[in-house]
Amino acid sequence: MIRSAIVPVAGHGTRLLPATKSQPKEMLPVARKPIVQYVVEELVANGIEQILFVTGRSKSSIENHFDSDPELTRVLKDGNKKDLLAELEFEELDANFFYTRQRFQRGLGDAILCGENFAGESPVIVALGDSILGINAESKAVQRMTELFMDKRASCVIAVEEVPREDVVHYGIVDVAENSDGTLRVAKIVEKPTVEEAPSCLAVAGRYAFSPLIFDMIRRVKPDKRGEIQLTSAIQMLCEEGKRVLALKLRPEERRYDIGNFPSYFETFVEFALADPLYGKDFRAYLERLLCGGSSPSSSS
Ligand code: UTP
Repeated sequence: MIRSAIVPVAGHGTRLLPATKSQPKEMLPVARKPIVQYVVEELVANGIEQILFVTGRSKSSIENHFDSDPELTRVLKDGNKKDLLAELEFEELDANFFYTRQRFQRGLGDAILCGENFAGESPVIVALGDSILGINAESKAVQRMTELFMDKRASCVIAVEEVPREDVVHYGIVDVAENSDGTLRVAKIVEKPTVEEAPSCLAVAGRYAFSPLIFDMIRRVKPDKRGEIQLTSAIQMLCEEGKRVLALKLRPEERRYDIGNFPSYFETFVEFALADPLYGKDFRAYLERLLCGGSSPSSSS
């Protein structure tokens, strides 16, 4: 099994400025929780026991979030606020947290390389800190990726999902061929291709399983025009060297919510808020009134 995961959270998040000027995008809330909490809960539910965050400047709130806060707990206990104490139960999650800093934001590949000593000789999961899989992160994709990785002795397994043709320009896109056992072999991967160049509409979806070989590949990648070391280039090297790189399709209910840009962040927030067991129903009614141009929304809250 794979028990360790690297969660890169060091990016500048410029597409979400000004919200991300002094706080990490991974700490922005989606409905009730910060995005990175969904990611961690998903990983722990998939058997991950140790998590390395690759952080950067102004990211200390992530470390604080996963630490216990005895003073806050005492205040809530003294006030007999049992329901609010329950909201802090995630502090007891069965995982060990580690932190390291990417000193210069030289791209995702470079951020993953910061996890080399953490991974050691063992395979590792990489989960992007700005992407949630499925409503409320109820996804077992990482577990299926781990099983596939072990069963097929793969060097890399990538989670992928179908995107509309016009959207391929935003993602890493894979070219796959079906093996005789029904698994999908990745022949090629291209970062943000044009619509014409894209070999398929299967987009990389923010979760990877890697053997330690990936670190050697990353070291060999030359920086791109923006000076970034692309993880996609390192995976392409694995393909070119004939290593077994497989793709695993996400199930429709595991769709990837990428909160790295405002349109997608807004959609994700609204969808998760609508699914909230306590507030979702009233929020839906409010939205319906708002969209139907009925009674003034301000008078309805
Ligand atoms: P993005 O590609 O969304 O880049 O990163 P970004 O820098 O965060 O955002 P923009 O493009 O400026 O808006 C995908 C994931 O990789 C991490 C990010 O924190 C995010 O979780 N990342 C990216 C790093 O850890 N280091 C980097 O140098 C770049």
